[in-house]
Amino acid sequence: MVRLFIRAADQAVGARGSFRTAFSGGRTPELFFRRLAAEPKAVPWARTHVFWVDERYVPPDSPASNYRLAAETLLSHVDIPPTQVYRIPTEHRLASDAARAYDRTIREAFGLPEGQTPQFDQILLGMGSDGHTASLFPGCPLECDADDLACVVRPGAGIQPQALRITLTPPVLLAARSLVVLVSGREKARTLREVLMGESDEARHPIRMLWPVLDRITWLVDREAAAEIGEA
Ligand code: 6PG
Repeated sequence: MVRLFIRAADQAVGARGSFRTAFSGGRTPELFFRRLAAEPKAVPWARTHVFWVDERYVPPDSPASNYRLAAETLLSHVDIPPTQVYRIPTEHRLASDAARAYDRTIREAFGLPEGQTPQFDQILLGMGSDGHTASLFPGCPLECDADDLACVVRPGAGIQPQALRITLTPPVLLAARSLVVLVSGREKARTLREVLMGESDEARHPIRMLWPVLDRITWLVDREAAAEIGEA
């Protein structure tokens, strides 16, 4: 993953003068963040812009915060200008206001007019054992309009941590130049097999919404999560 990230950053900066990426949170990315922090000069951080794929609606210093995970394990160890770190603003009283504010932040950072979709250079995703990605959960419809870039999700009862989420919307994920899906842990093996090889659809496993851009996805799966792949 570190090499993929560095290569994407170098290609984007070489081609367009900047590298715009969006991180997921949860448990899986921590090792990637720490390994990237161990090579602080490997990425053109002065030209890199970091956004978030999704965020739990908690304060930025909460242990559940996706921003805090990346800030503590990576961003505080590299020379990225603070103005190029676009945290989802969970301090708004209403999560819907935070989603609108983040939508505006993305549009301004990309210099995008209304109605256009930003094209991230690389988006880092995970997958939950229920087949969710970003904060697109089974049975949890998005509360947003068609051209929103970010919106509020109320996760179902079984989703931990129980907090509202702000997530990038499917059109933004589908527009990315490249996507990397990181999957680790034996508890995901059955779902990963179903998603990649078996009976699956977007309603059952929301990560299937990425299938139209499967050619732009790199799957990085550890041995435990791959344990059931290859079994008919
Ligand atoms: C989040 C993440 C989420 C994550 C998956 C996998 O806010 O939890 O953005 O989409 O990628 O839930 O989570 P783990 O890495 O903890 O298994």
